[in-house]
Amino acid sequence: MELLDIILKRRSVRKYTTEPVSEDKLEKILQAGLLAPTSQNRKPCEFYVIRDKAVLKELSKAKKMGAGMLSECNVAIVVSGDSNKADTWVEDCSIAMSYMNLMAVEQGVGCCWCQMHLRSSVHGKDAEMNVREILSVPGNYRIVGILALGMPEKEIKSHRLDEVDFSKVHRQF
Ligand SMILES: Cc1cc2nc3c(=O)[nH]c(=O)nc-3n(C[C@H](O)[C@H](O)[C@H](O)COP(=O)(O)O)c2cc1C
Repeated sequence: MELLDIILKRRSVRKYTTEPVSEDKLEKILQAGLLAPTSQNRKPCEFYVIRDKAVLKELSKAKKMGAGMLSECNVAIVVSGDSNKADTWVEDCSIAMSYMNLMAVEQGVGCCWCQMHLRSSVHGKDAEMNVREILSVPGNYRIVGILALGMPEKEIKSHRLDEVDFSKVHRQF
């Protein structure tokens, strides 16, 4: 697929079949994340691959809302950035997540970004802290988000080029 087709095809997929995401597809998705650029090439991103259903369920409760698909998905990639390595952990992890999201589309794998950074649980506890506790990782491992992955239950309509809003582009100078 051409890159533009992949970009148009990318939709947030929150419902999945029971078919597992193959290790081959997962490896390609992770490769994309590991190939993403990072500021000053500091590579602060760490990826935690979770297939265990009980852990996925726990992760789905790490924040108040919008994380339900984590208990439905086949595999999740928790994306964390070591803040001791780079002050650009948010940017670096976000780029890695976008690369992996696009590779998932290319592989026919449904994917949804689940925000954790700046979110809290129903009890008001920091969502990042909840995820760190579930994974047993230290406080300097900041949790940007989680990619929920699974084989899509149904096709979601692609984006279209006629949605593109060029009024957001300012050619002032
Ligand atoms: C930074 C970011 C955080 C997001 N967090 C969540 C989330 O926590 N839960 C969720 O269901 N979707 C989440 N999404 C998906 C967006 O809701 C979705 O991309 C947006 O509504 C556009 O729909 P589309 O992805 O199908 O084009 C997030 C997307 C981004 C880029």
